[in-house]
Amino acid sequence: MKLGVFDSGVGGLTVARSLQRSGYFSELLYYGDTARVPYGSKDANTVMRYALEAVEFFNGANVDALVVACNTVSVVALEIMQQYSNKPVYGVLEPGVLALTHLPQLDKQAKILVIATRATIASGEYQRRIQELGFNQVEALATPLFVPMVEEELFDGPIIQETFKHYFNQVSKPDVVLLGCTHFPLLAEPITAYFNGAQTIHSGEAMVHWLQQQLQLSVQFKHTPIQIMASENVEAVARVAKRWQLT
Ligand code: DGL
Repeated sequence: MKLGVFDSGVGGLTVARSLQRSGYFSELLYYGDTARVPYGSKDANTVMRYALEAVEFFNGANVDALVVACNTVSVVALEIMQQYSNKPVYGVLEPGVLALTHLPQLDKQAKILVIATRATIASGEYQRRIQELGFNQVEALATPLFVPMVEEELFDGPIIQETFKHYFNQVSKPDVVLLGCTHFPLLAEPITAYFNGAQTIHSGEAMVHWLQQQLQLSVQFKHTPIQIMASENVEAVARVAKRWQLT
């Protein structure tokens, strides 16, 4: 099965990496809309328009299904993408929420912190769905500055640590941090360290688990090549892909 993977920039590579390592897929075609990142601070209508342009691109591509490796797009535009796509389209929201139920020894009193873009947090979708699962201590925080930092390949260091203080100083220590933006797994290690070992949920791992269950996939491929495309500065995307050993 060949998969298309779409994100606003480099963040979706965290999902592509999980898909690649799973051994379930024959090939990946990644498209990052780097010319227009970030999406998370834009209006829902604008995000939908961009998402439909991505659908048009993938409608003409030789892939069997499309993974939306962006929480903002998954929350705002998944339905409309499914309507206009000529192949199945899978978003990261549902897999990310369900991943909470797979964490061992997590009781319903656990403190869950969702961090994501402004658009994702403003939609209230994560908060609502997590509460529907019975968790009642859910805090949600928009941390949009992490997106340009990751796009700038800043994965730790003083600027990141200062930004953590800026966003997290009022937050009580969570048991789980749900990384509700696919850029954020690139900051997972310093986030875990900042919160003294809190567990993190990663959209990519959640998506692999969910696809496996939905499509009954089995490991078939030792190597899954990835082709990388971007609307601007494809070299930067390729550099992060290399650093993350996708290529
Ligand atoms: N990686 C995207 C997400 O998962 C968003 C980054 C952005 O474009 O703001 O929400």
